[in-house]
Amino acid sequence: LSSNANEPGEADGDHVGAPRGDVVLTGDRPTGPLHLGHYAGSLLTRVALQRDHQQTLLIADLQALTDSAGRARDVRQHVLDVALDYLAVGIDPEVTTIALQSGVPELAELTVLYLNLVTVARLERNPTVRNEVVLRGFARDIPAGFLAYPVSQAADITGFRATLVPVGDDQVPMIEQTNEIVRRLAHLASRPVLAECRALLSNTPRLPGVDGRKASKSLGNAIPLSASPDEIRAKVNAMFTDPGHIRVSDPGRVEGNVVFAYLEAFDPDQGAVAALEAQYREGGLGDVALKRRLDETLQELLAPIRARRAVFARDPGEVLATIRGGTHRGRAVVASVLADVRRAFHLHDLVTP
Ligand code: TRP
Repeated sequence: LSSNANEPGEADGDHVGAPRGDVVLTGDRPTGPLHLGHYAGSLLTRVALQRDHQQTLLIADLQALTDSAGRARDVRQHVLDVALDYLAVGIDPEVTTIALQSGVPELAELTVLYLNLVTVARLERNPTVRNEVVLRGFARDIPAGFLAYPVSQAADITGFRATLVPVGDDQVPMIEQTNEIVRRLAHLASRPVLAECRALLSNTPRLPGVDGRKASKSLGNAIPLSASPDEIRAKVNAMFTDPGHIRVSDPGRVEGNVVFAYLEAFDPDQGAVAALEAQYREGGLGDVALKRRLDETLQELLAPIRARRAVFARDPGEVLATIRGGTHRGRAVVASVLADVRRAFHLHDLVTP
């Protein structure tokens, strides 16, 4: 594995470790609207990368179904939500390909072939899957597709010929498994068939949920990009600060204080944030004033995003047409990779041309 750290995820930042020739792919499971954690951790990076990279964003509905087959209707609904969030933050479908995983059946065939290159023991060792299994309370009742989703993700990455995958550190095991499959196939075929990829790790710290726990859709503790002004205000007011900071004059803790985590991520005046942190530590700065500042910052950040989202949301047919176009373009690439992989498995020229 050769994963490397990169520059800050700023829209106008340079991306060291992202040479122009890289093919970039990332994906999102459509399990709900995207939130501020996605924005700070990865959407800004993608908006920056699209200027000088070939980039695909994959809406991974098949991956979402691996633990949500009973919520298939919701997954379908959230495909549009995720696409709207992409467009709202400035993903330009003229330069970034937005593709729907289930619209590329070649990915499923690649997955079936790759499954022959992976052992069950290896799947059970994947640390990210292990964590998710614990979170979801799976035991022997784990859906087989869920245990195997890293293989489907390897199909996504190699299928789009991606060399660079901008992800959070939780996804590094997926990159490792992908490269193991790439090497295993090269070994079997006695020649390179697919290119290896590397992670472009975000160095923005993971944004906590408003309660200080990990942000998650089921806990409802994240702030969606599509949140209304009232929802933003209510979420900010509910933020976990420092339970020991009772009177304004009390010294307060900045570490673990959710309001400061968000101010550090989103306040354009970081000098002022540092001064506020010093004052908070000293004592003399109340949570109410602090939350008011964050509320104003987030209202300003999200208002234009919400407005753009509303414009696109007026014409869902047009958004679906955009996804259809991206999926069609993506299919051609994945089909060419599948032809190479079928050849490596000696599956060409039997009954198919
Ligand atoms: N596993 C990723 C997540 O849960 C989503 C994903 C699917 C993905 N396919 C991908 C990410 C390909 C990067 C590349 O967020």
